[in-house]
Amino acid sequence: METPAANPAIDYARHDRIRPIRWTGQMLELLDQRRLPFEVEYLGCATSDEVAAAIHALAVRGAPAIGIAAAWGAVLATSDIEAEDGASALALIEPALQRLNAARPTAVNLAWALARMRRALAGAGRDWRDVLAAEARAIETEDLAANRRMGELGAGLIAPGSGVLTHCNTGSLATAGFGTALGVIRAGVAQGRIDRVFAGETRPWMQGSRLTVWELQQDGIDATLIADAAASHLIRDGQVDWVVVGADRICANGDVANKIGTYQLAISARHHGKRFMVVAPSSTVDMDTASGDLIEIEERDPAELLGVAGSRTVAEGIRAWNPVFDVTPAGLIDAIVTEKGIVEQPDEASMRAMFG
Ligand code: MRU
Repeated sequence: METPAANPAIDYARHDRIRPIRWTGQMLELLDQRRLPFEVEYLGCATSDEVAAAIHALAVRGAPAIGIAAAWGAVLATSDIEAEDGASALALIEPALQRLNAARPTAVNLAWALARMRRALAGAGRDWRDVLAAEARAIETEDLAANRRMGELGAGLIAPGSGVLTHCNTGSLATAGFGTALGVIRAGVAQGRIDRVFAGETRPWMQGSRLTVWELQQDGIDATLIADAAASHLIRDGQVDWVVVGADRICANGDVANKIGTYQLAISARHHGKRFMVVAPSSTVDMDTASGDLIEIEERDPAELLGVAGSRTVAEGIRAWNPVFDVTPAGLIDAIVTEKGIVEQPDEASMRAMFG
């Protein structure tokens, strides 16, 4: 992939080596996140339906990464079709695009990427295959550039010597590279602003314990894993200055959907006078959704809650509820960092001023 503008303070070759998505020219290879951290294996997808299944099963996950995977899935949907121009090709692959779109409901990056692919195809002539592949590549490259920019902007808010707590996985694994909230943490550590990094386990799928601390370990960034339930105790203890998280959808009023458990971190940070930062590319901003009440929250198989690492831990016959995202109201957020700039104390007016 072409390398976007870099910050000389950061050794990207050292601090950003993991790539969750690889396009071979014929197929899509996804670093299978169900198997990390003990097996680093790529899953090959030869059809758009295989990509949709991989997104649904969390083989690839994280809002920007599922948008990028879906964009390449759209390219795969055209493998077996013949068409004179982009509009004819679009008509033929529309059912496959809809199946990709339905793979997960909450992260808007999925629908955003597919809308971009549709627009590119609709306007293309005889060279529509090249146009479509170039658009998927552009979505990926722009995401990496956005993450590096957000790393700079977000780290700039953090005073030297700070402690941060993050949630879920928002790193290279969840994006084209570098990460959103984890990009801010990478940049903040590289600049000597962040002394202490804490990561919550992120039950029930364990993105924090299986992915985030592994990813930081690859970079040589020292991090401490905590049980999700330990977060308020840690914050009260004075070890955290900023809670830094990603987002799956940011609404027109600044409400933010992110991994389940984010909302309680925001409440705890506010209660203890600590600050709360959301880091996400503008592809995660959904100005067509007025508030968090209107976001569809994905509910996954309760089986994710009923066992640990594939072994059942809960008695038979127990009911479980497994919503995997929650909504943090804008009023609890100190800063939303995007590649376009920072919205402090977000509300409808400040969001409109930045995102139109
Ligand atoms: O269910 P997941 O693992 O896809 O959820 C991911 C998150 O909630 C992330 O915080 C969000 O997508 C931002 S990733 C840069």
